[in-house]
Amino acid sequence: MHAIEARGVTRRYGEVQALTGVDLDVKNGEVFAVLGPNGAGKTTLVEILEGLRRRDGGSASVLGADPAWASREWRSRIGAVLQVNTQNDELTVGELVRAYARYYPHPLDIDHLLEALDLTAIRDRRIHQLSGGQRRRLDLALGLVGDPELLFLDEPTTGLDPEVRIRIWEFIEGLSEQGTTVLLTTHYMEEAETLADRVAVLVGGRIVTTGAPDELGGSSGVHVSFRLHEPLLTVPLPERLPPMVVRDKDHIEVTTDDPTDVVTRFVLWADANGGELAELQIHQLGLEQFYLELLDHLNDWEEAGV
Ligand SMILES: Nc1ncnc2c1ncn2[C@@H]1O[C@H](COP(=O)(O)OP(=O)(O)OP(=O)(O)O)[C@@H](O)[C@H]1O
Ligand SMILES: [Mg+2]
Repeated sequence: MHAIEARGVTRRYGEVQALTGVDLDVKNGEVFAVLGPNGAGKTTLVEILEGLRRRDGGSASVLGADPAWASREWRSRIGAVLQVNTQNDELTVGELVRAYARYYPHPLDIDHLLEALDLTAIRDRRIHQLSGGQRRRLDLALGLVGDPELLFLDEPTTGLDPEVRIRIWEFIEGLSEQGTTVLLTTHYMEEAETLADRVAVLVGGRIVTTGAPDELGGSSGVHVSFRLHEPLLTVPLPERLPPMVVRDKDHIEVTTDDPTDVVTRFVLWADANGGELAELQIHQLGLEQFYLELLDHLNDWEEAGV
């Protein structure tokens, strides 16, 4: 049995059909990322699986139980970092984390957790005095303190500075190595590439694609670019180039799945014509490019009424 199995999950808010029938399997021990534009339904989906929102239709099994009928025992096995936290307290950081820890049968070591999330220096500060990023790190501490089997993270690093973000990635990787299953949402493609074994793209309340990040990202190819100086500016380009060659005056961009072949041919061509390629750059396009192109295509299809 998978950690999460959802079939045909739907949810409507008045006129808005937020989820139109979502199927999702998250394996035990997997880190799974849900990507998708604002309003796609990510939070709705995650909170249904956490047992915090009701679904209209379909079925869901999370750690073997239906989240709509969750027991306290079940709840102690999951951790949740919500996108928005409304609780605002007179308690200090340390007091609140300790209070949460008491709900769980085998909580993490609090000192170690505060240290890992860079909260030690502000453990005596009151919750309502925290900055946005400090608040977010506290949310993470509260979601993690129960040492959950399954951890839900709804945009865990939004608003955090890059150093803290990387620290949190390392922390999540550590949990994953110990066997914790993680379902996260994110708008950062680098986060998904770093952490996730698989990603799903949710658009308009339905999952449009699922796969490993390098599988999806790898399919968009490699970008080769460089500049031409005299005497190459007036020489015709080499023949039989890939279809994706864009020339803007002296700047050439090629998208290809065989960069070695493209570079070799341009270098030989430049050499034969007594010039060289300036500012040569080669980079893998990756998940971000794949994601943006996918959304672009979906928009085109929608406009075309497909
Ligand atoms: N409580 C609610 N009442 C009415 N409509 C809602 C409610 N919650 C969400 N919606 C609507 O449902 C859709 C999905 O919202 P949801 O918050 O699940 O999206 P999301 O993918 O998490 O977006 P974001 O990336 O901005 O967090 C949106 O159109 C939103 O306006
Ligand atoms: Mg959301």
